[in-house]
Amino acid sequence: VSRHGGSDHDHSDGEDHMAEQTTTTPSHTVRVNTASREYDVVIGHGLLASIGPLTRAALGPKPTRTAIVYDDNLPEHTITRAQGSLQTAGFAPTLIKVHATEQLKSLATLSTILGELAAARLDRLDPVIALGGGIVGDVAGFAAAVYRRGVPVVQCPTTLLSMVDAAVGGKTGINLLMPGADSGLRKNLVGAFHQPHMVVVDPSVLGTLPVRHLRSGLAECIKHAMIGAEASDAGLLDWTESHLDSIFRLEPRTLGELLARNIAIKAAIVATDEREDLENDSGGRALLNLGHTFGHALEAVGTLSPDGRRESAPLQHGEAVALGLVAACVAGREMGTCSPMLARRVAAILHSAGLPTAVEGLPSTATLMELMGHDKKVRAGRLRLILPTDSCTARVVVDPPAAVVSAGWDAIRCPAH
Ligand SMILES: NC(=O)c1ccc[n+]([C@@H]2O[C@H](COP(=O)([O-])OP(=O)(O)OC[C@H]3O[C@@H](n4cnc5c(N)ncnc54)[C@H](O)[C@@H]3O)[C@@H](O)[C@H]2O)c1
Repeated sequence: VSRHGGSDHDHSDGEDHMAEQTTTTPSHTVRVNTASREYDVVIGHGLLASIGPLTRAALGPKPTRTAIVYDDNLPEHTITRAQGSLQTAGFAPTLIKVHATEQLKSLATLSTILGELAAARLDRLDPVIALGGGIVGDVAGFAAAVYRRGVPVVQCPTTLLSMVDAAVGGKTGINLLMPGADSGLRKNLVGAFHQPHMVVVDPSVLGTLPVRHLRSGLAECIKHAMIGAEASDAGLLDWTESHLDSIFRLEPRTLGELLARNIAIKAAIVATDEREDLENDSGGRALLNLGHTFGHALEAVGTLSPDGRRESAPLQHGEAVALGLVAACVAGREMGTCSPMLARRVAAILHSAGLPTAVEGLPSTATLMELMGHDKKVRAGRLRLILPTDSCTARVVVDPPAAVVSAGWDAIRCPAH
């Protein structure tokens, strides 16, 4: 099986290659309809250079100021491009730098951002621009949710994961540091639902994203494809498998389609269940957690690595999700929601994408079951597993038999060599 995205620099010339293809009009637009707000996700290579007029069109003539909360790993020209375009469209931008780590997705960073918004005298109509990956999107989005009881936010995701997932759907928040509790970090414990006024997706920025992060985002894309029929796109899994090569080459047309189809799936699911409060077991936003109940337990272990090398630990979120997808397929096979074929097929696609499908050093099943019990998908002490079907949908299974869950864990257990 061929694997893609092997070296950490094999797509680093992507941005130059794509700079010639900048566009001022979106190649794709996905409309997100939620009860609290309807907005567009606009997608196009080079679109960041047009963020000013796009923001003006979305927000009207009144706002005069803006704050760009940006990820300090972004190259200078990405920030100046957005800044220049906003200036030309009549916004006076203030720049607020964020160092994107889970430790700094914190109350302290929130407080700094809020102080800077106040110092820049942003008004109730002035937008916050969140320019970065999911960390920047979450903390800047939360600042926008609470500053003056809510100002507009325009999400400009710069990682594949944030483009297809975090920037769409309105979840914002920060981690809470609680000394004494495990790592001390309670992820996403504090936050708000705050839908953006617009999402601007410019895939040309992916040219500088380390390939390990690109692969991680692809795990979420494969997850979306596994539930594509929930949003009338049952063909996305086949399509993704056959386009991995051009995805890793950051081929603009392929990326545009990948993003539009993934965002449409997320948007369709969010539209049915904006606040993840559907209690019924047939879906809603909970379906987006396919692979995540296993995955979160794997992330909690902290010492696992995608390639068995100690220096690659811990697993990134997308790597844990990839393993979780394989485990969920095998649990689904045991539960009878899908055929044995699906686990083999999904594992082959993940492997081709350079993602792990088995992991060394997995703790005992009892320990893993205990870690799963801490997952937010556990309600009133009952484990809720999302299990896939062969027809690209998923089911919520409450309190699955222990044998079903342990079959999932066994499937990804790789003996040390
Ligand atoms: N709100 C939601 O619905 C939602 C959904 C999924 C995940 N999340 C959150 O998103 C976060 C993870 O987001 P992520 O995977 O985007 O990671 P991230 O924000 O940590 O970004 C990953 C790394 O890439 C760097 N980076 C970002 N864009 C870059 C670019 N274009 N070029 C070079 N480097 C770049 C960042 O500085 C960081 O080091 C988590 O905190 C998670 O809780 C939120």
